[in-house]
Amino acid sequence: MTPVVYPHWHILGAGAIGCLWSAQLYKNRITCMLLVRSQRFKQLESDTQPLLRITEGGQLNQLPVSIGSTNDAQPIENLLLTTKAGDALAAIQSVKDRLTNNTTIVLLQNGMGSQQAIAESFPELAVYAGSTTDGAWLESFLTIHRAGHGKTWLGPLSDKAHAETHNHAIESLVKLVGMDVSLTENVLAKLQEKLAINAAINGMTALHNCSNGELLKPEFQPTIAALCEETACVLAVEGYSGTGAQVLERVNHVLTVTGENYSSSLQDVRNNRKTELQWINGYLLTLADKHNIHAPAHETLMSQLAMKDIY
Ligand code: PAF
Repeated sequence: MTPVVYPHWHILGAGAIGCLWSAQLYKNRITCMLLVRSQRFKQLESDTQPLLRITEGGQLNQLPVSIGSTNDAQPIENLLLTTKAGDALAAIQSVKDRLTNNTTIVLLQNGMGSQQAIAESFPELAVYAGSTTDGAWLESFLTIHRAGHGKTWLGPLSDKAHAETHNHAIESLVKLVGMDVSLTENVLAKLQEKLAINAAINGMTALHNCSNGELLKPEFQPTIAALCEETACVLAVEGYSGTGAQVLERVNHVLTVTGENYSSSLQDVRNNRKTELQWINGYLLTLADKHNIHAPAHETLMSQLAMKDIY
């Protein structure tokens, strides 16, 4: 009998999602190493085993985690990139000498645009993208809270990934117990669906400093509806088939079920971090501009945010 060979993963981006995947891989006995910049790596105490603290449903779990530096030399077989969209390309460039022609890359960024930029920069590699609704937030380095179990879709992005009939490493992610991961041939459609929702919610909650549920108030609904209408119209040039009314229905459903939550963009603002809105509404505006489509609701939203120094 041939022994089962489990793939080894490197995770780049030690935020909430990177830590969540690191914990799930560990629980599934798949080896992985969380990569941090050399400066941070040097600050870690070398004589103690780092522990990842994950709280879920009020229960704290502490799991050993293997941490390495982006500057190490050993090749990276499989890379899960979990940085913010704006840091993604630079992060992958920082380890480019460690990638081989056989490296599989999985991109888990919010919004759109950063994934395509990476697939174009690394055409010789099998680049996959993911779209996730998993909810987790980072309390401090290696301390996360899992807010909700979502679904993750993974699918090929680069030509090389599209040509593969089988990818052992990707299959290891689909089989993870404790995560709901499925494969799709059309990951762009999944990214568009999520972008359409984020484009109506995230910027508006950041601008009005409010919970998701507050956007259901009558005073915000006309703007939300206009954003949804423009999103459907702009994304249609990339094959999106939803109507503005369908997007609005989904957005209002998300606002209802996540009513108490604060969007990731508002959390970024409150924590003085740059948001990912450039990769959400910004992506739509770039696309609109390219195809001469008028998108005044998105334009106004982005300029109102800029007036408040929210980028
Ligand atoms: O970015 C987020 O916070 C979430 O994707 C969503 C759906 C807006 C809910 O808070």
